[in-house]
Amino acid sequence: MKVTAVYPGTFDPITNGHLDIIGRGVGLFDEIIVALLKNADKEPLFSLDERLEIVASVVKRFQKVRVESFDGLLIDYARSRGARAIVRGLRALSDFEYEFQMALMNRRLGPDLETVFMMPSETYSYVSSRLVKEVVGLGGDVTGLVPQEVLDRLKARYASARKR
Ligand code: PNS
Repeated sequence: MKVTAVYPGTFDPITNGHLDIIGRGVGLFDEIIVALLKNADKEPLFSLDERLEIVASVVKRFQKVRVESFDGLLIDYARSRGARAIVRGLRALSDFEYEFQMALMNRRLGPDLETVFMMPSETYSYVSSRLVKEVVGLGGDVTGLVPQEVLDRLKARYASARKR
């Protein structure tokens, strides 16, 4: 039986930590759907269309991975795709409480779906989309922590913001 996993998130922007998790998931699941939340409360730096385009481009090398957006409950979306698992990355203890609550709420809403936590390589254990944006916004270098395409787009976005 084909096992599909959904890897949900905001991905604003996708980092090498996220890609590390996707790479690990590819070894476990028959298909991974990277699912971008449509109406995140957070004001994203990149629009949904931009994030979809970026993610699609950087996961091209993985045959079993595709990208979609969703709104509403993650559980409903995952079910609509016939998924059996929800993948989330865990970097540090500080991630745990939020992830634990979400996983248990999702289990209550959809006992048929299992949340699978994966740890990225320690190389990326401190990398977050938020920090990456902050560092580039202040003129710092995040080479190696995000795909080159993301790096280029981040630099361009903040350069145009500075001109304004
Ligand atoms: O990358 P993020 O911002 O940590 O991802 C959070 C996300 C998208 C996984 C979470 O906000 C989510 O699943 N939202 C969909 C709405 C939902 O199902 N909420 C109940 C979760 S218990």
